[in-house]
Amino acid sequence: MFIVFIGPPGSGKGTQSNRLVEYLGVAHLSTGDMLRFAVQEGSELGKEAKGYMDNGALVPDELVVDIVGLRMSQPDCANGCLLDGFPRTLNQAVALDEYLRENEKALDVVLELKADEAEVISRLVGRATTENRADDDSETVTKRLKVFHQQAAIVTDYYKEQGLLEIIDGMGSPDEVFVRIKRVVDSLGND
Ligand code: AP5
Repeated sequence: MFIVFIGPPGSGKGTQSNRLVEYLGVAHLSTGDMLRFAVQEGSELGKEAKGYMDNGALVPDELVVDIVGLRMSQPDCANGCLLDGFPRTLNQAVALDEYLRENEKALDVVLELKADEAEVISRLVGRATTENRADDDSETVTKRLKVFHQQAAIVTDYYKEQGLLEIIDGMGSPDEVFVRIKRVVDSLGND
């Protein structure tokens, strides 16, 4: 099963992806995690990506598309994976479609996690006190939310036209949200 997770910063993509990959037994591809790892390693990719990430901006499409393509060509993605935070632009969505078509695969569903702005800000403020993510200060969070809203509708409209988009209410506890996600995923193929 190939699944895309879309949602604003703090909507719970990472939290719910961790649960869903365990439930489905598929690989978890978080572009945010891959990029943060590259920054930590000090690789060429990490050096290029760092400035964009620290500013709450998107890393250029060509860099992100390349790392996702490489990761998806690994054997553990042969029968499916969960893409968390990718695609974020129309170019990335088109590149993903091309990759899947060339490999005779297709997306099963795109999950859009929705949560109120005040709630996601409060979650990220909470995380800033417990984790040390360079982009969780309030100024960068505001920028990340702005960037998300600039691109999100273009990407979600693209998937809506393909009949792949499912909207998930991301408010409530992680357990409550996961029940909603499971309901959608379990119903796939039963329509
Ligand atoms: P990325 O790592 O993808 O960050 P993000 O989209 O900003 O999302 P977050 O990780 O902040 O939030 P989340 O929705 O995963 O929520 P989480 O579960 O962690 O991207 C970071 C940067 O990398 C980007 O800004 C960009 O620069 C670059 N990048 C990444 N992908 C890219 C791409 N495709 N193209 C270009 N650039 C890219 O939860 C947040 C907090 O809330 C946690 O503390 C959690 O415990 C808590 N929480 C979660 N769910 C609940 C709940 N239901 N109730 C209460 N608390 C909750």
